Amino acid sequence: MDADIDRIVLTEEQIQGRIRELGEAISRDYGDEPVLLIAVLRGAALFVADLSRAISSPVEIDFMAVSSYGSSTKSSGVVRIIKDLDESIEGRHVLVVEDILDTGLTLKYLLKNLSSRSPASLEVCTLLSKEGKRRVPITCKYVGFEIPDEFVVGYGLDFVERYRNLPYIGVLRSQVHAEHP
Ligand code: PRP
Repeated sequence: MDADIDRIVLTEEQIQGRIRELGEAISRDYGDEPVLLIAVLRGAALFVADLSRAISSPVEIDFMAVSSYGSSTKSSGVVRIIKDLDESIEGRHVLVVEDILDTGLTLKYLLKNLSSRSPASLEVCTLLSKEGKRRVPITCKYVGFEIPDEFVVGYGLDFVERYRNLPYIGVLRSQVHAEHP
């Protein structure tokens, strides 16, 4: 285990096992219909790489990057598109892939934006969900794990851009937070 990690919340085996189940559910639902996975950078990059390989339906992958306006306005729900999709989604089955669903403000904006582009269908798959933190209701068809409100890193989730490469998800030692106030 990484020396900066205090406690593992989800092991690599738990994460990969749940991804196989999500992939099976998605494959059952979409069948032979092509599905476009839209991963929201940066955290979801690792999840979409594993999830896409667990899906047997025809899969295409595109990426979006978003950012909140200003530093203290994450909770405002005002989101700016830093990188847009490369292709049109009109008439396509779209599945938005997120690493974590917290307040729901990012997804609320994204789903509104994407639905205005007339996809054939629009659903969400998130690896982690903090239901207790939700500020706006979000319909999420595929949820990997419900987790309590703790600051977690690993498997795409960062602290000052580090720890995304850990194969598990865990809680940082408090000293690490203290060194980066
Ligand atoms: C995380 C996550 C979602 C968003 C969820 O991204 O990937 O996009 O926060 O939070 P919300 O439900 O409260 O809107 P983050 O801003 O940490 O960027 P990153 O993926 O580049 O680390």
